[in-house]
Amino acid sequence: MLQPKLLINGEFITTDNFVNVINPSNNQIIAQVPQINDPEAIHDVFYQAHQAFQTYSQTSMEYRINLLQAFANEISAHQNELADLLVLEIAKSPKDSLQEVLRTIDYMHETIAVYQEMINHPLSFSAQDLKTPNKTAVYHRVPYGVVLAISPFNYPLNLLMTKLAPALITGNTVVYKPATQGSLVGLKIAELAQKAQYPKGVINSLMTNARQNGVLLASNPYVRVMNFTGSPNVGHLLAKHTNNVHLILELGGKDPALVLDDADFDLASQEIIKGAFSYSGQRCTAIKRVLVSRQNHDLLVSKMLDQLKKVSVGLPADNPVVGPLISTQALEYNLKLIQDAQDKKATLLTPLKYELTNNLLYPVLIDGVNEKMRVAFEEPFGPILPILVYDDYDQAIKMINDSEFGLQASIFTKDMALAQTLAMQIDAGTININKASSRGPDILPFLGVKNSGFGVQGVKEALVSMTNFKGIVFNK
Ligand code: G3H
Repeated sequence: MLQPKLLINGEFITTDNFVNVINPSNNQIIAQVPQINDPEAIHDVFYQAHQAFQTYSQTSMEYRINLLQAFANEISAHQNELADLLVLEIAKSPKDSLQEVLRTIDYMHETIAVYQEMINHPLSFSAQDLKTPNKTAVYHRVPYGVVLAISPFNYPLNLLMTKLAPALITGNTVVYKPATQGSLVGLKIAELAQKAQYPKGVINSLMTNARQNGVLLASNPYVRVMNFTGSPNVGHLLAKHTNNVHLILELGGKDPALVLDDADFDLASQEIIKGAFSYSGQRCTAIKRVLVSRQNHDLLVSKMLDQLKKVSVGLPADNPVVGPLISTQALEYNLKLIQDAQDKKATLLTPLKYELTNNLLYPVLIDGVNEKMRVAFEEPFGPILPILVYDDYDQAIKMINDSEFGLQASIFTKDMALAQTLAMQIDAGTININKASSRGPDILPFLGVKNSGFGVQGVKEALVSMTNFKGIVFNK
């Protein structure tokens, strides 16, 4: 049984309260992770991070770059161990787990490069720009203070580091709370930060009963930035309890794939199946609904079913596309959505097959879906894909936009002008033409609108999000 510790103000500590981490592949307890639940002790963590900010924020850019580089080197040196933990606690395949680690290291390197560029080129105004003789101005980017980072189970390393790296390199200090499933990697990261010699109090890994104490974290007066990835309900609840805090929220999606009549149907079906089912659909950017015209419905369905034959299902060790869902609760939720659709006369195009002992749900294609069915508008975070039929493009756009979510969308067509026109009508952060939705390449800005999120991530945008302007106006 693993019993990791929390890193608080430079010390590894444990407590009398524990939460179990479960292996989704067999529902066995694999670790007990300590929690800090006492409100005063929680407050103290933020106070220490605030104290650390007073000195860390004054350190040189070179020092912080070297620290982040050393941190990346530690992650690189422990890449297999980190990947193994991902397999164990979130049932990601070994191949995808290692890919997540490598992607994270790349992200850290990109952060260093973009930060150097940003610092070397502050926003400057000449006397000519200002149309005032003897007046010049320069606006630097400075850190806010204590960043509260809350990361999800599905990319426990990558979506943690996309919060930590931009916060740390710019001079903020961090208190982070990983998801319980994902906390083994999360807490391992604190050990590696310590090895990289971050000063005490700069990085703090705080596990707590989030249901009970989430609001306490968000409302702590020392928090200056909250960067949260998770469900809209929790994100909105926490955001409501912040006070003058800079917010970055990534809250999920219901990404549509809109297939137009002139699409390359081979490409569309291939991308849709990959986009919907990789990591069992447990990605905020997974394709979560397909819209096809009545006339091309049968063609697309038959090609999607062909593609589905290539989707492997199994336990992580076999590197399947679809593996165990994160919990039995997640599996049961997916089954409820399927049942609701069946009750309302939808048709399953694939046999319904699942295994409660290892949380496996085989891919489900649901046809004849209409907007009254829960699966048409809820986010399953599982391997189920509803197919909706439209009569014209206006109706398709309306169906897409009649959603609480607006993360990404895909349009499949050979007509780039039409793609551009429709993309501008879709209310979402990013529209992918002839490609499944996805966050990467990570250098791209990443954002959602409506209930999908608030604020922008990416590399440059994350650095901007973690810093405020400080202007100096010279008059001589
Ligand atoms: O789950 C949300 C992630 O940010 C999606 O990232 O598109 O690289 O899978 P991805």
